[in-house]
Formats: sequence, structure tokens, C-alpha cells
Amino acid sequence: MNNFEFFNPVKIIFGKDQLTKLATQIPKNKKVLMIYGGGSIFKNGVHATIKAALKNFTVLEFSGIEPNPKYETAMKALELIKAEKIDFLLAVGGGSVVDATKFIAAAALFNEGDPWEILSKHRPVKAAMPFGVVLTLPATGSEMNSGAVITREASHEKLAFSSPLTFPVFSFLLPDAASSLPQRQVANGVVDAFMHVMEQYMTYPANAPLQDRFAESILQTLIEEGPKAYANPDNYEAMSNLMWSATMALNGIISCGVPQDWAVHMMGHELTAQFGIDHARTLAIIAPNHYKFNFENKKSKLAQYGERVWGITAGTLDDKAHAAIEKTVAFFHSLGVDTKLSDYTRTYEGTAQNISKRFTDRGWIGLGERQSIKPADVEKIVEMSY
Ligand code: NZQ
Ligand code: ZN
Repeated sequence: MNNFEFFNPVKIIFGKDQLTKLATQIPKNKKVLMIYGGGSIFKNGVHATIKAALKNFTVLEFSGIEPNPKYETAMKALELIKAEKIDFLLAVGGGSVVDATKFIAAAALFNEGDPWEILSKHRPVKAAMPFGVVLTLPATGSEMNSGAVITREASHEKLAFSSPLTFPVFSFLLPDAASSLPQRQVANGVVDAFMHVMEQYMTYPANAPLQDRFAESILQTLIEEGPKAYANPDNYEAMSNLMWSATMALNGIISCGVPQDWAVHMMGHELTAQFGIDHARTLAIIAPNHYKFNFENKKSKLAQYGERVWGITAGTLDDKAHAAIEKTVAFFHSLGVDTKLSDYTRTYEGTAQNISKRFTDRGWIGLGERQSIKPADVEKIVEMSY
């Protein structure tokens, strides 16, 4: 096992009727800005519940955070924060709203030029506003981590940052609010959470059996409970298990002391930036081919995953590893998630070359758990995904 540090200060408040506790989580003298998306929180009643819970606070609202949140929109929130002297942010919605709020929290106190450089140049975040989360969509894990992914519309770039200063102070996890999700978003949530585990697990053996079994247990739970939540978003028990699995998939626990990959996410973000494909679906497009292309490096873990998660016992190690990739693809298909770029767009020619050039320009020349995946390899993986 490798050396590691683990720090996660996020207070989780999970379940039904929990928003009655919201007022006690925010310091009394704070002026709150509630940040949300396109209006789902009006349909599922969360907006009204929060307004009632915070009736003794001054609460302003900023709406219109879009899926794959935009830098341009986040910058508009900064004007309101400064004009109204807001000192606490409350993100209400899915991962996009949470990510936008993290960026806004950091950008509001960034005094060294254009906050875009937090993303484009990894400029360190030295201060951030405090913020809480009310989560209505199980998927990203953003509710219990310090990372965010922001898109710049003008340049079609989708970039990530993280900072120890951008953990939420608290996160309410509301499986019942997620019952209003369209099936497509539930499927996205299952696949995104699944792929978060895979990015931290599908590498090479690191003699970390506890982390491996944590990861495998999350994958197994997603395989069992995800389809139930997908079939019926009203199934509170299944949605609860999906929501907690998604949180556990990316709160730092399973990556302690083990190698991590994340190349699938880096390639996937480019497909969202270029074509607007849902984040999770870009991962389903890239992952199977990433595993095929890097088969020799990953086959030992692929076979372990095949045996322990899918119960594949027949054949050689290579047979099990191949079968595990096929099982993964079939699982995504069972959730209505297509796994080829051409299922989503007809104008995919040249995509692989574009992505590989962007990675070269950014200096992303060694991806994956061994830093061995070069832009030329990225080009081949994306081409295999057409
Ligand atoms: O905007 P509203 O009206 O709220 O509608 C949203 C949105 O249209 C809707 N929705 C949310 N909760 C709902 C609901 N509709 C009905 N009922 C509810 N209870 O769902 C749509 C999608 O929401 P979004 O927040 O975009 O989805 P998700 O949570 O999947 O977040 C995706 C974003 O997170 C980033 C992705 O790149 C993408 O931008 N990620 C963030 C990560 C992180 N911070 O750790 C890690 C991930 O890998 C990912 O990259
Ligand atoms: Zn993801």
C-alpha cells in the first residue's frame, strides 16, 4: 500500500424529513444565497421546504445553473454575492449545481486575476466562502468531496479543480427528492458512480485488499440496487442505496493508498465539451475501449473484478478479464446507456485527433495509473470508441 493522507470534513445528513435541521447547520447571522438549476427543485417540493426551514434567515436566490455548469453563468453569481454581501452559499440540486457552487465559493475570494485560471492553470485556492449542499441526484459524489468540473462555453473546455477549502460544510442527501428524476438521469447516476469506483480500482494490484473490497462492495451494490432505482425512481430503499453508494464512490475512502487512473474521465470530459453528451454516457463510451487498449496493464485487476463482482469463474485469467469488460458493457446497456460515440452523434470524424491535440497542448502527455498513456494512445482509444 502507498502512503496516504485522508481528510474529509463533510457532515452528512441523510434521509427523509431531514431538512427541518437545515437552519441549525448555518450560523445564525449569515446571509444566504441559494444556488440551483433549471427548476426541478420547484417540482419536487425541495424549494418550498428549504424556504420554510430558513424562514428566519435572509435568503437570496440564484437560478439557472445548467447541467455541465458554465463558467460564464458562475461569474454572474459573483456580481450578486458582492452586491448583496452574501456570506453563505447553499447548493440545491445535482452535481452541476454543487460543482458550480464550489467554483463560485473559490472565485468570490480569488484576488489574483481571472478565476478561470483556477481551472486552466491550477492556480491555488487560498480562500473560499463556506457552503452547504442539498443533494437531489445521486451520481457525482461532489456532495462529499472537494472537486468540481466547470465548462467554458466560449472555448468548449471542460476542466476540473479541487482544493481542501472547497469541501461542503454539510450535505443533506435526499433520496426521496430523487424520486422525481427522469430514468435517464438515474441511469447516468449509476454509471457515473460505477465509473468513479473503476477509476480508483481498475489499475494494478497494490496489496490493498481492504480498498479493493470496499470498491467491489460499492460496485456490487450498484449492480443490485441501481437497476431497481432505474426501473422505479419512487423506490425509496433502492434510491437510498444508490445515493449512499454514489457518495461513497468518490469521497476519498477507496482511493487511500492505491494507484488511480482517471483517464476515462479526462477523455469523457472532452466528449461532453465537444458534443454535449451527458457526463456518465461519455464514460460508458470510453471505458470499455480504454480497458481493451490497456489490457496487459489492467488484466490482473480486470480478472479479479470479473471473479468477485460478476462471479466469472471459467477460463484463463485473460478470458475472465475479457468477459468482465463484456459484462460491464452489458450492464450499461441494461440501463439504456449506449456505448459508442456514433450512437450519440454523426459528426464524430476527427474527434480522436482533436482530443489528442488538446491533451498535447495542455501538456497532458502521461495519463493513467502508470502515466504511460500518451496523446497518440488517447487518439487510438477514442477512435476505438466511435
Ligand atoms: O437543473 P435542474 O432543474 O435542477 O435539473 C437537473 C438537470 O437537468 C435534473 N435534476 C436534478 N435533480 C433532480 C432533477 N430532475 C428531477 N428531479 C430531481 N430530483 O437533472 C439534470 C442533471 O443534473 P446534473 O447536476 O447536471 O447531474 P449530475 O449530478 O450527474 O452532475 C453532472 C456534473 O457533475 C460533474 C460532471 O462533469 C457534470 O458536469 N462531475 C463532478 C464530479 C465531482 N465534483 O466530483 C465528478 C464527476 O466525475 C463529474 O465529472
Ligand atoms: Zn464522473
